[in-house]
Amino acid sequence: VTSVAILPLVPCHGDTLAAIHAVSFAEPWSTADFARFLTQPGVIGWVAGSGDAQGFILLRRAAEEAEVLTLAVDPAARRQGLARRLLDHALEDLRARGCAACFLEVAADNVAARALYAASGFAPCGRRRGYYRRANAPPGDALVLRRDL
Ligand SMILES: CC(C)(COP(=O)(O)OP(=O)(O)OC[C@H]1O[C@@H](n2cnc3c(N)ncnc32)[C@H](O)[C@@H]1OP(=O)(O)O)[C@@H](O)C(=O)NCCC(=O)NCCS
Repeated sequence: VTSVAILPLVPCHGDTLAAIHAVSFAEPWSTADFARFLTQPGVIGWVAGSGDAQGFILLRRAAEEAEVLTLAVDPAARRQGLARRLLDHALEDLRARGCAACFLEVAADNVAARALYAASGFAPCGRRRGYYRRANAPPGDALVLRRDL
């Protein structure tokens, strides 16, 4: 994909992002949830797509550290490099704002996301047991990942 634009996430993206989030995670976030996040101090987001938003990343910055709150790509647009571009763009922006490290949580069994983050230089720095509640399965562990910026 060469014609993908990365743009700042703004409240009017909320409906599209809620739709992508709902098909990507067990616990959906509403349009209002996204709007609320965007009013919080330090929260930054980016959307990617050629036309409508097909993927997004939401982060929170606090002093010299940041965390990825969520990242998802529409199932129809996966494996085209959108998540990698969103992550690269977001990390470059954090670096430019003076952040020194970025953290995130990922389900230990999320093969796709773990491969993406490992390729981007994130390494495990902790494990939260039973962190993810699931409908018809036992709670899943979260890995805490970190990388220097
Ligand atoms: C994880 C997710 C964001 C990846 O989005 P994507 O746009 O398809 O990812 P990219 O095309 O940029 O892939 C980048 C790298 O991630 C890894 N990857 C992505 N999808 C993968 C999969 N299904 N299996 C294994 N590795 C995968 C690969 O290393 C890939 O590089 P490659 O294509 O050169 O092999 C997407 O699968 C998604 O939205 N999943 C559901 C939500 C989620 O799990 N979000 C992360 C929560 S922490």
